[in-house]
Formats: sequence, C-alpha cells, structure tokens
Amino acid sequence: MRGKELARLHHASGATHRIWSDSEYVALLDQKSTCLLFERNAFILGQVLGDEAEIVMIAVDLAAQRQGIGKTILEKFEAEMRGRGVLQCFLEVSDKNGRAKRLYLRAGYHIVGRRKLYYHEQDGARCDALILRKDL
Ligand SMILES: CC(C)(COP(=O)(O)OP(=O)(O)OC[C@H]1O[C@@H](n2cnc3c(N)ncnc32)[C@H](O)[C@@H]1OP(=O)(O)O)[C@@H](O)C(=O)NCCC(=O)NCCS
Repeated sequence: MRGKELARLHHASGATHRIWSDSEYVALLDQKSTCLLFERNAFILGQVLGDEAEIVMIAVDLAAQRQGIGKTILEKFEAEMRGRGVLQCFLEVSDKNGRAKRLYLRAGYHIVGRRKLYYHEQDGARCDALILRKDL
C-alpha cells in the first residue's frame, strides 16, 4: 500500500481535519523511522524513535467504523511497538475529535498536554490539540 492508497483511506474515514496528500504519505513512508500497519479498510502509521513511538495517523473507512477495527489495529500497533522495545507511545489529537479521543482514552492513553488553538479545522475554526501518552 503506497501513498495514494493511504490518502484514499484517510479521505474515506470522514476525517474533519485536513486530509494528507499522496506525496505527504510517500514522504512519511520513505522515513526509516516510519511503521505502517494496514488492513483492507484501515491503517495506522507511526514513528519509532528509540524507546518512544508516536502515532501519526489512524484511519478506518467510514463504512467499516464502529466494528472494533480501530481498537484492533491500535492494539496490533502497540504489540509491534512492545516487540521493538518501545516503552511509551505518544500521539496528538484534536480536542474536537470525539471518535478518536474515545478510542485512545478507552485504550489507556492519558492527556499529558494541550496546545491551545493549534489546529485549523476544515471549516476554518481553530481548536486545541491534546497530547496523549500511554506507557506500554
Ligand atoms: C477514530 C477512528 C480510527 C475509530 O475507528 P473505529 O474502527 O470506528 O473504532 P472502533 O470501532 O474500535 O471504536 C469506535 C466505536 O465503535 C464502538 N464499537 C466497537 N465495536 C462495535 C460493534 N461491534 N458494534 C457497535 N459498536 C462498536 C466502540 O465502542 C466505539 O464507540 P464510541 O465511539 O461510542 O466510543 C475512526 O473514527 C476514524 O478513522 N476517524 C477519522 C480519522 C481520524 O480522526 N483519526 C484520528 C486522528 S488522531
């Protein structure tokens, strides 16, 4: 699965933030630190830096959401990270992204920071970014 397919799935997830382009995904995939797990209807992409990882994007096709795919692929990513010796996993999420926030909080992530008015939503509104962390 290359940049085009990731951008297509990101768009199909119904995300309200800006959809990343094919070339942005290709640039991410070119980095040695990138880890991608994907399935037919979903992917999770992260960066591994020593004993820390960052989840950069998770997306599930809107037609396949609310069936546990997001939770399952997140758990697979964490298992992969544990296998690589990662101790902590971080991510950033919009305070307005209720679906993603619930997924992460239920999975044991904790809010450890807030960046005020950090994101521009597609409708032009500004909202806070939350920094979440989980000890693996
Ligand atoms: C966030 C996202 C990845 C969640 O994916 P998902 O596959 O729907 O996640 P899950 O199915 O594991 O859980 C979502 C909900 O479905 C519920 N669910 C899980 N299995 C279910 C089932 N069999 N029947 C009914 N509901 C179910 C979960 O309890 C959860 O409920 P909640 O939203 O009320 O808390 C998805 O909404 C998405 O792609 N969003 C757009 C992209 C995005 O914003 N990414 C995050 C960037 S930080």
